[in-house]
Amino acid sequence: MSDSKAAPTVVFEVLRFHPEKDKAPYLQQYSVPVTRGMTVLEGLTWIKEHIDSTLVWRSSCRMGICGSCGMFINGVPRLACNNQISHLHSDRISVKPLPNFEIIRDLVPDLESLFDRHRSVKPYLIRKDSHEQHHPVGEYFQSHQELINYIQFAYCIKCGLCLAACPTAATSDKFIGPQSLTQAWRYTIDSRDEGAGERAEQLYSSHGVYRCHFAGTCSQVCPKGVDPALAIQLAKKEAFVRAFGIRKQRRAARVAPPVENWVRNRDIPAPPTPTIEKSRA
Ligand code: FES
Repeated sequence: MSDSKAAPTVVFEVLRFHPEKDKAPYLQQYSVPVTRGMTVLEGLTWIKEHIDSTLVWRSSCRMGICGSCGMFINGVPRLACNNQISHLHSDRISVKPLPNFEIIRDLVPDLESLFDRHRSVKPYLIRKDSHEQHHPVGEYFQSHQELINYIQFAYCIKCGLCLAACPTAATSDKFIGPQSLTQAWRYTIDSRDEGAGERAEQLYSSHGVYRCHFAGTCSQVCPKGVDPALAIQLAKKEAFVRAFGIRKQRRAARVAPPVENWVRNRDIPAPPTPTIEKSRA
């Protein structure tokens, strides 16, 4: 970052591509004045507002929640909205669309292949009690420990960074990929789920967990701290354990009694009535 009395500037080197106008993608440079705390997304917004209104990207929440602003920033898949320019420690910021996806335009990757993979692993609770599904009378019981077993995998925001970082996905577009394999595992180990058999078809297919070479880059780039490499290794281990009959089939969680009954049965005292302290004049 150049240091002068005026606002320091960095050079953004941005990949541009308009499929209807350009034969091939090319790089364009923009000089951007950097303010304290400025994110890469804010840098792109500055370019759009002050230099080039034709620059296109995808973003929404600006707080690392929606997962739409994934980009290849200085050679690493990252969210543009939660990476500050100063944290990149460089006066040149390279911004390209996520690898392993088609480019729709400029910095917008086509995430449809991610969502197709995601749908293929049935990322929802599968239950046999169809009557309860259609006419629910309560909630399925789940202990704290049962929640801990899968909760970190549930933090996935489907940004596609893990798939963009995956060397196996780079060589095979049939590989189900870290995001979707993790979601298959997340639901399979959920104590309320009974769909392990249905998901096993995808998990253990020739494009499933055994294609993972355990590079671990998926876990390194996840902006939410999810560890897809761990989920994939646990799924491999589970197949082994089941093949040798070491683990028995677990019973799916039952419907818990209504909370009123639960509280009444345990004789839990009512919370104290709130009081307002009089101000001392
Ligand atoms: Fe939503 Fe970046 S804009 S995650």
